[in-house]
Amino acid sequence: MTRGQALGLGVVGAGSVSLKGILPHLTQADLADRARVVAVCDPVEGRAAAAARRFSVECAYETLDALLADPAVDAITIASPIGVHYEQGRRALLAGKHVHFNKTMTVTTAEADDLIDLAADRDLRIVASPGEMLRPYNQRIKTMIAEGRIGRVCWAICGAAFETYHESEAVRGGDDILSTVDPSWYFSKPGGGPLYDMTVYALHALTGILGPVRRVTGLSGIRIPERSFHGQIVRGDADDNTVVLLDFGEGLFAVAYGTAAGSLTSWDDWSGRYFGTEGRIDGLLLDGEPFEFPGCELARSHPDGGTRPGRGGNEWLLPHVTGVHRDIDEQHVFEDIMQLVDWVRDDIASPVTAEHARHVIDIIEAAYRAAATGAAQPLSTSF
Ligand SMILES: NC(=O)c1ccc[n+]([C@@H]2O[C@H](COP(=O)([O-])OP(=O)(O)OC[C@H]3O[C@@H](n4cnc5c(N)ncnc54)[C@H](O)[C@@H]3O)[C@@H](O)[C@H]2O)c1
Repeated sequence: MTRGQALGLGVVGAGSVSLKGILPHLTQADLADRARVVAVCDPVEGRAAAAARRFSVECAYETLDALLADPAVDAITIASPIGVHYEQGRRALLAGKHVHFNKTMTVTTAEADDLIDLAADRDLRIVASPGEMLRPYNQRIKTMIAEGRIGRVCWAICGAAFETYHESEAVRGGDDILSTVDPSWYFSKPGGGPLYDMTVYALHALTGILGPVRRVTGLSGIRIPERSFHGQIVRGDADDNTVVLLDFGEGLFAVAYGTAAGSLTSWDDWSGRYFGTEGRIDGLLLDGEPFEFPGCELARSHPDGGTRPGRGGNEWLLPHVTGVHRDIDEQHVFEDIMQLVDWVRDDIASPVTAEHARHVIDIIEAAYRAAATGAAQPLSTSF
């Protein structure tokens, strides 16, 4: 990319998140002089071409290698199943491309180490979703806890439930090549299960607010062995029911869960509940009352009243979510991609780092190891 030109983006995977979020956002006219989608790839015959037609993208490929060989591609966003992120990210870095990873960046800590080293060696940028600490309310929670607003924090809880979210996504409910994208991989190893898919948001917020975890233990298993998609039975071998205990040191603990069903409060636990000697923070409430944070008035002007962390009006508070982007789905994914665009184009380092993602991956991997061995696992990473 020559200075001043739009960054050429390649989209890897033309499934749910690309169709409902990434491509609609990135093909808006307001981005034209900053970033431009130049290519999309997907191994399912005809899917990339159909997506390219729908969003007027110039090139469609059926292999990643073809997309990486395209000189118009400066950076990619990886929107394929989590189990292939590492291998694809590695190939992209070796081809000299900057990379945005949709959550979760990799399945293992060793894979994350390798990508971080490779990017550093080649002077390339990685942004690894989810950028939960870009959210002003998470920054405010961090400050309130540091200022002692709830006294000495003693424990926290956060998590998410799979329910039937992916089988029921509206974008998968049709009968053509773009609306029958099979979500089976969400239920199988490597990379399946609610920890890598959903609890990852909560863990980014929890660790962004309380800091790195020292050791974890947990219990994990499969509760719903069979699901169905478009009338077919789907069997998975990834655990779908996991409860993790996290030790931050000095007697501060947390619980994180990625369950088959059931949350303490629907989506709200993604930003967690924090209990201290003199109060509690519960989502966007401090001792039961809404607390103030930068942009909260804008969030509250949304039809949802700005009451849900990570949804509706609170998505509008992400820095690049302005104008037309406020009406398009998956605003946080768009935000994270724009973090990479700013970093590459303008050298504005993003706080949505691969090192933070690696620490969360370390927690998830260690939780499964603890569940398998029955022994608490010390963590080797920090951020
Ligand atoms: N679905 C959501 O609501 C959502 C939201 C935010 C982030 N994400 C993340 O986005 C990523 C993709 O999720 P999704 O729900 O869109 O998945 P999906 O299954 O709907 O789509 C994945 C697409 O990738 C393609 N694919 C498979 N192997 C590939 C390969 N080797 N190279 C290129 N493409 C390949 C598949 O054919 C499919 O079209 C995941 O990391 C997920 O965690 C999903």
